[in-house]
Amino acid sequence: MPAVIPCADLQITRRYLDQLVEAAVRAPSGDNLQPWQFEVHPDGRRVIIRVDATRDPSPMNAGQRMAWIAVGAAAENMLAAARFNGQEAVVDFSHESDAAVVHVDDVPEAEFRPDPNILARVTNRKLYEGRAVTDQTLGLLQERTPPLAESKTDWIVDPARIEELAEIIRQSDAVLFGNPAMREAFFRSVRFDAAADAEVDEGLSLASLEIRRREVTAFRMASRMPHWLFRAAGVARTIGAKSAQLVKSSSGVCVITTTNDTPAAHVSVGRALSRAWLALTDAGLAAQPMMSPLVLANALRHASTSAFSASERQQSATLVDLLERALQLNDGDRPAFLLRFGYATPPSGRTGRLSTTRAFSTPH
Ligand SMILES: Cc1cc2nc3c(=O)[nH]c(=O)nc-3n(C[C@H](O)[C@H](O)[C@H](O)COP(=O)(O)O)c2cc1C
Repeated sequence: MPAVIPCADLQITRRYLDQLVEAAVRAPSGDNLQPWQFEVHPDGRRVIIRVDATRDPSPMNAGQRMAWIAVGAAAENMLAAARFNGQEAVVDFSHESDAAVVHVDDVPEAEFRPDPNILARVTNRKLYEGRAVTDQTLGLLQERTPPLAESKTDWIVDPARIEELAEIIRQSDAVLFGNPAMREAFFRSVRFDAAADAEVDEGLSLASLEIRRREVTAFRMASRMPHWLFRAAGVARTIGAKSAQLVKSSSGVCVITTTNDTPAAHVSVGRALSRAWLALTDAGLAAQPMMSPLVLANALRHASTSAFSASERQQSATLVDLLERALQLNDGDRPAFLLRFGYATPPSGRTGRLSTTRAFSTPH
């Protein structure tokens, strides 16, 4: 690698890095809040990705753990985009600058082509068809998701185990949406101000949530209900029941585990997530994260004690325990991501992204 990059090369590299960052921001993030910030290193060969903690202060993102997963997914998208264009890039975690760092060695000779799987990947919150995947498809998914240094990916397709997970997710959703701070954070990211099917630049459109036209009023009312009414009407339980139905309609659940709770480990989880989701997209399968049990686990570890009542803490601890047993994990492994997948028609809406110019921390 030359110590000084000739000016013309730097220009090309910068354009290429911009194209990779375009791929990065297509990554999934909790509530589409895009909690990342990109900086191009002066050597023009490294992109530094940090968590922008101002983007997602929600208790669902306690300790910025969900944000680090999003950063990992963004970094992995850059690697996938480079590979699609015949180039290698690598990512590591810099403990010094507390950031994921993507190293890019060379610029493709041919014109840059966006990876169609990165463009097509989307969260699909519809009911799926319940059809099993073939052994061949399962083999392909496994092949594309080998263990990484700090994370491991498993594919659960046994209907009895899917049912067991559906029940845990049902109860976890009920606890999560029963908590006023968690639910307010979720509703704040819903774009009631935009047309239902608009590709909003941040947050969640009603169509992406599969809220039908006739349900919009009830959904908006639920978002404004005082706590006593929300409880009395059993809204959190209804949401839990719906989530269980969604999981049961799936062909399987992809589980990503890690061995520790550091930002580096969560970046690794995000990388594994991006690999799994791009492989699913390539195989024509729909996917949706079902993160309520892990949001509860995270809140138990990181949120201030006031975020949960004593009974919510107790319920959450029981559910996390149930999840760990249902997943039959090795000693020391802990669950970090759940992604249901299956066959489905396309989602009713998809979300857009903020401009990448905003995502750069340095002048652009
Ligand atoms: C850490 C993380 C947690 C998420 N949790 C959920 C979830 O529990 N339920 C859900 O429907 N989507 C969840 N998502 C999906 C995001 O809402 C989605 O990626 C975002 O809105 C952008 O939409 P897209 O995936 O269609 O591009 C999660 C994504 C990430 C990265």
